[in-house]
Amino acid sequence: MDAIAERLLKPEAAPERTPVPPFDLVIFGAGGDLALRKLFPALAQRNEEGVLPEESRILGIVRKQEDVEGIPNEIAAKLAAAGLSQDRVAAFRRRLTMVLLDAVKPETYGALREALGDSQRVRSFYLSTPPDLFIPICENLASSGILTPTSRVILEKPLGRDLASAREINDAVARILPESRTYRIDHYLGKETVQNLLVLRFANTLFERSWSSRDIDNVQITVAETVGLESRAGYYDKAGHLRDMVQNHVLQLLCLFAIEPPNQLEADAVRDEKVRVLKALRPIVGPDVQRHTVRGQYGPGVIDGQRVKGYAEELGHVSGTETFTAIRCELDTWRWAGVPIYLRTGKRMAQRYSEIAVTFKPVPHSIFGRAPGCEELYANRLIIRLQPNDGVQLQLMMKVPGSGKLKVVPRQLDLRYETAFDVRTPDAYERLLTDVIRGDQTLFMRRDEVEQAWTWVDPILAGWQEYYPQPHRYAAGSWGPSQAIGLIEREGRSWADPEFGE
Ligand code: BG6
Repeated sequence: MDAIAERLLKPEAAPERTPVPPFDLVIFGAGGDLALRKLFPALAQRNEEGVLPEESRILGIVRKQEDVEGIPNEIAAKLAAAGLSQDRVAAFRRRLTMVLLDAVKPETYGALREALGDSQRVRSFYLSTPPDLFIPICENLASSGILTPTSRVILEKPLGRDLASAREINDAVARILPESRTYRIDHYLGKETVQNLLVLRFANTLFERSWSSRDIDNVQITVAETVGLESRAGYYDKAGHLRDMVQNHVLQLLCLFAIEPPNQLEADAVRDEKVRVLKALRPIVGPDVQRHTVRGQYGPGVIDGQRVKGYAEELGHVSGTETFTAIRCELDTWRWAGVPIYLRTGKRMAQRYSEIAVTFKPVPHSIFGRAPGCEELYANRLIIRLQPNDGVQLQLMMKVPGSGKLKVVPRQLDLRYETAFDVRTPDAYERLLTDVIRGDQTLFMRRDEVEQAWTWVDPILAGWQEYYPQPHRYAAGSWGPSQAIGLIEREGRSWADPEFGE
């Protein structure tokens, strides 16, 4: 048996763990939605795997006395509900310390300084707070003498609300910590399929050779959610979907899809290439927003058989904020010139699914003529599915077996993570949180990347204000406003059917 055959047959064990040094991780916003839903469970999972060194601690910053007991109780209840035994829950709980502090009041930081003591462990500060708190928190950490020479901060997205505010935050943070210790998180970069994009492209020659306008007709990036506003009205209604999802997650997917090969898998080599992609995005300016973008806001509708409220009703007042965005964009580079890239993302859509669908060009000439059974040769399509059913599918034309007339139909090669590997797919935050402690910035956004993304997004926001102030309505449980269908159909194409990746 040759080496590859042996490898193909062998069940693959989970990758070897990279050691994590002892640490103190401080989470600002410990009682917030993100911390409770994602950060603590991710840390508990890593604890279960034995990745967290014995002496490491997790400190949660809370503002109310009752949260000092209340938050650990809530975390423990969630872990127990997820099936963790009493002993294991207690073991994780022993790592938690809640610290009462008001992020904007420097005089309250003494409690944190005391809780941290003079330990030499790696100190990481996760700012899971609105971006207007980033500057005061960094300044207060510095002035309270809490930052050590290896301390690092983790900043949640969106970083600011436009280029000017992002720069202001970046400047202020840079006065306190060097770029090498600033981690701008975008959890999409921690998703397995997103990391697999680099492997798919650069560990295989098959796709890389056709990864350009020569062979690709169009690219579609869809990030569809069925959830609505949840408990985030205060933040979301001010931000809107373009800032919440496109400026970061969707553009990061586009970057990894389109980058030139970095010369090695090293943080700055990868990030240099991503910045180049962002710089090549053709600006959409002024009245062009009407032609190249679609804004939508969901009204009432039905999802999974359940009636759901419209956005304004959920919010309690009328609002001009978009909950859906579709954009037709292009990259002005040799590789991508002339390939339309369609971005589509929204809340309360028909189905939760995220994918990159790459449609190749049709064959230049059909040798099968137009005989019945062969008249339709569909272009090949590659689907990189992020969620659910993470994996890769390739649509190919095949002959239907039989000795009758030739019949050609599309079928798909289906490589799903759950069937290809017998290992658990971790949540994005599990990897990202330990990457910070290890000091690996590959999956984090560098300052220039974030600013370049805003440089592209800002004119769209300005164009909307002037030329497109009201979002179109769409029914919850649909695929967005009809204008989003028009955006692609007027160019003789259509959105990839999500059923294809099912
Ligand atoms: C967050 C956005 O960054 O990503 C949310 O703020 C969104 O609005 C979430 O719901 C989606 O993440 P995921 O991992 O569920 O696709």
